[in-house]
Amino acid sequence: GVTRHYKFDIKLQNVTRLCNTKSIISVNGKFPGPRIVAREGDQLLIKVMNHVQNNISIHWHGIRQLRSGWADGPAYITQCPIQTGQSYVYNFTIVGQRGTLWWHAHLSWLRSTLYGPIIILPKRGIPYPFTKPYKEVPIIFGEWFKADPETIISQALQTGGGPNVSDAYTINGLPGPLYNCSAKDTFKLKVKPGKTYLLRLINAALNDELFFSIANHTLTVVEADAIYVKPFETETLLIAPGQTTNVLLKTKPHYPSATFFMKARPYVTGQGTFDNSTVAGILEYEKPLNFHLSSNSIKNLPLFKPVLPALNDTSFATSFTNKLRSLASTQFPANVPQNVDRRFFFTVGLGTSPCQSNQTCQGPNGTMFQASVNNISFVMPTTALLQAHFTGKSDGVYTPDFPTSPLIAFNYTGTPPNNTMVSNGTKLVVLPFNSSVELIMQDTSILGAESHPLHLHGFNFFVVGQGFGNFDPNKDPTKFNLVDPVERNTVGVPSGGWVAIRFLADNPGVWFMHCHLEVHTSWGLKMAWIVLDGKHPNQKLPPPPADLPQC
Ligand code: C2O
Repeated sequence: GVTRHYKFDIKLQNVTRLCNTKSIISVNGKFPGPRIVAREGDQLLIKVMNHVQNNISIHWHGIRQLRSGWADGPAYITQCPIQTGQSYVYNFTIVGQRGTLWWHAHLSWLRSTLYGPIIILPKRGIPYPFTKPYKEVPIIFGEWFKADPETIISQALQTGGGPNVSDAYTINGLPGPLYNCSAKDTFKLKVKPGKTYLLRLINAALNDELFFSIANHTLTVVEADAIYVKPFETETLLIAPGQTTNVLLKTKPHYPSATFFMKARPYVTGQGTFDNSTVAGILEYEKPLNFHLSSNSIKNLPLFKPVLPALNDTSFATSFTNKLRSLASTQFPANVPQNVDRRFFFTVGLGTSPCQSNQTCQGPNGTMFQASVNNISFVMPTTALLQAHFTGKSDGVYTPDFPTSPLIAFNYTGTPPNNTMVSNGTKLVVLPFNSSVELIMQDTSILGAESHPLHLHGFNFFVVGQGFGNFDPNKDPTKFNLVDPVERNTVGVPSGGWVAIRFLADNPGVWFMHCHLEVHTSWGLKMAWIVLDGKHPNQKLPPPPADLPQC
């Protein structure tokens, strides 16, 4: 591999959307941010220079960061934030990965404007295990807020209520023609007939899983979270925040007398308010040179629109996710852990805490909204966990006593308990090097069943099972798929159900795990794993780089 250098200047930039101009925090003045392109095996040196008043930290979502945990990026987990006027060089090598990933800010809600694609091409001379695309196009979904997202979340946390929802979804930063005042800000995909395009889809939205479809075109899914999957065709796909999906789009063999909408809108089963608007983009066949059409008749081409599933269509969501299978070929084997050293059962869901202020809070029954794992709402430390772990100075920073299962069992998907209060703590799980881990994540119906896209830093995991209702430790494991389960870094815990994952703890460091619905992370649906060093020098986390930011 080669070494590639990037420079990220974090600075303010005026951007106009929905007839409203505001100053946003950007990378190099771009929105969405610049794309990173590299090959498997390359080393990346990305210098992030902070020119704004906010603290900053950037995460390379899905990059395994083998023995480079200092470059992972979640603020107060692997590093202290980069302060105003300071810089930090993220230094990591891409090992055994190729596909689409993405980068985003990892502090508060700054990722609403700080995000961009990471495109990892295969090593030179190694082809894709599917039709060579004529062109590759990144498509990033986002959420646009007219107000300042930092103000929205800090007000929500103060009053205990749900934050205001976004004003639009976006495709590559553009809301599109279905919003007022937005027709000129429409993403257009211009294609030629009879070609294959590789669409690299990324969901960078803050708080919503999305359905996506292109009218009159079938998509072939070939990759999820930078892992090849067994190809399958679909009209519509589901993509959760944090997830990436590569699809092949075969264009019509001849120039069609029509244009086509592509649309995305949310999949939501929770009780709260959400943005239920739709972002549209346009798939347009470029007029061939010898094709004679007056510009008037181009304007009058019929416009075909896709039909998306209902907002709460869990059966579509389930059948779609069940289709995702690893390639499990000789060249791309699925190394599913067949035996398990450590078993964990985590409940994930919402909860409440007592009102802190004298006034009534805006959460349920005058309380404050919280979210938790095993009923523990994670309290962010004020110094980086990885540093505390590395230097052995963990006293007063974290405790290594995260419970392996809920302290009080209840009927997780039945009538919720009367007491919905969470407890608080900065608790971590400690794993010996190379332990093989099985984790069941169970959604709870406390304050409503909801799908939670859980993201694990530092690893890919295999999704060996999923189901509805309460996980049954006697029956359900007999149905686990240990042959070709999908391998990924973010998985939706089904609404009113559970998911089972397995991974090998072969990467020493401190690794964050959280719901990628940003409001749930803010409410505490997060925790972290410590993976200890192995015996050999190449099984140890190296010391931190000299420019690692300090708190
Ligand atoms: Cu994409 Cu911890 O995040």
